[in-house]
Amino acid sequence: MDCFIVEGGARLSGTIHVNGSKNAALPILATALMTDEPCHYHGLPVIRDLQTQVKILNTLGVETRWEGRTLATRVVDTYNSTAPYELVKTMRAGVCVLGPLLGRRGEATVSLPGGCVIGERPIDLHLKGLAALGAEISFDQGNVRARVPRGGLRGTTIYLGGKFGSSVLATDNVMCAAVFARGTTVIECAACEPEVVDLANCLNAMGAEIEGAGSPRITVHGVRRLKGVEWTVIPDRIEAATFLIAGAITRSSITIGGARPDHLIAVLDTLRQMGVEIQQRGQRLTVVPPARPRAAEIATMPYPAFPTDVQAPIMSLMAIADGTSLVTERIFPDRFMAAAELKRLGARITVNNGQAVVQGVERLQGAPVMASDLRCGAALVLAALAAEGETRISRIYHIERGYERFEERLRRLGARIRRAPESASGGEA
Ligand code: UD1
Repeated sequence: MDCFIVEGGARLSGTIHVNGSKNAALPILATALMTDEPCHYHGLPVIRDLQTQVKILNTLGVETRWEGRTLATRVVDTYNSTAPYELVKTMRAGVCVLGPLLGRRGEATVSLPGGCVIGERPIDLHLKGLAALGAEISFDQGNVRARVPRGGLRGTTIYLGGKFGSSVLATDNVMCAAVFARGTTVIECAACEPEVVDLANCLNAMGAEIEGAGSPRITVHGVRRLKGVEWTVIPDRIEAATFLIAGAITRSSITIGGARPDHLIAVLDTLRQMGVEIQQRGQRLTVVPPARPRAAEIATMPYPAFPTDVQAPIMSLMAIADGTSLVTERIFPDRFMAAAELKRLGARITVNNGQAVVQGVERLQGAPVMASDLRCGAALVLAALAAEGETRISRIYHIERGYERFEERLRRLGARIRRAPESASGGEA
């Protein structure tokens, strides 16, 4: 296992390009299951989670071929409709094959994803939505099985809100299943995330009839079949935010290319409140950092509010800001693993009841730390870039789930970050 070794304090400069969105790509690749025709998905990031999704598709009878950043797919065998535990347990988003499989093949078995480090993460809303379409749901040996009843799925009106608001992947699953339902489905309290819109647009390009994606009411008129598609996924707004913070935390003027500023409204607003100026020219965003950022208050909520996936990275910036920041996590109230690790670098953070109070310090100090999940890992790299001395970050396989060649791309901007074998650096086995 490798770790990252970061020598903090280097100024960054230059331009970094944003890759295709992980969270858009995962459900979009599952649309390959919904047609017999070949599909080509372009602009994909080369990351562990997509490789896992491709393996899931392979087990479901989809032949795949990589051509650079394009994945070519074709369904060659519909015998197996079970997404196995070995794969879904490593990536919960594997659950997004449920709706596509159910809609197209009439049945789907997906291993129950279980909990994960950021909380319980139930799939009750996914199942509620599919059941409302008429699917028969049963549980067996840790799997959830959904079957289309005699007569097929039927369109209806479904309220898909939960106690934490809308759900991204539940909206995706229900939308995909509804594509093949008879009549019209209306999803109320649908997730409005840009990734949901990208999926709806891709499905429409395949012949689906979906209206309202991006708003809380999505209407799906059922169709009989879908055709193949050529689709390019949207840029990754979470990666873009991570790089903006990399500029701000190292007090460096770097440019982020290929971003979608319209998907980053809440993040840009928070950064500006913190005194970080962002110059915008089309899809290029240039960070003009202040000598020291100011504290801020944020609350994570469904889009277009501040994204939970940027909560840990922005906390790293708050750790060195002038004043006391307040972070309220309204999507995953237990998602504060980064706080304990940031404290090892000298941050002053207290967490209580889904809220973190961050008292900014003048500087952080390098130390050995551990990534407990993807965004916690990114937050630690960001903090390490600003810390005095050396930080060793272990368990970087979490980071590789979602960021392509992270250290190499940061190094190109001037960061002093390298990969080393964990054992050679004295870390855990
Ligand atoms: C997606 C993103 C993830 C992001 C999250 C919230 C992908 C692959 N992952 O995950 O990066 O952090 O959105 O923006 O796109 N909930 C229920 N019941 C359900 C489903 C969800 O109660 O059946 C709750 C969750 O526990 C959470 C909230 O709803 O509190 C939102 O979660 P959800 O939007 O479903 O997250 P994911 O779609 O799994």
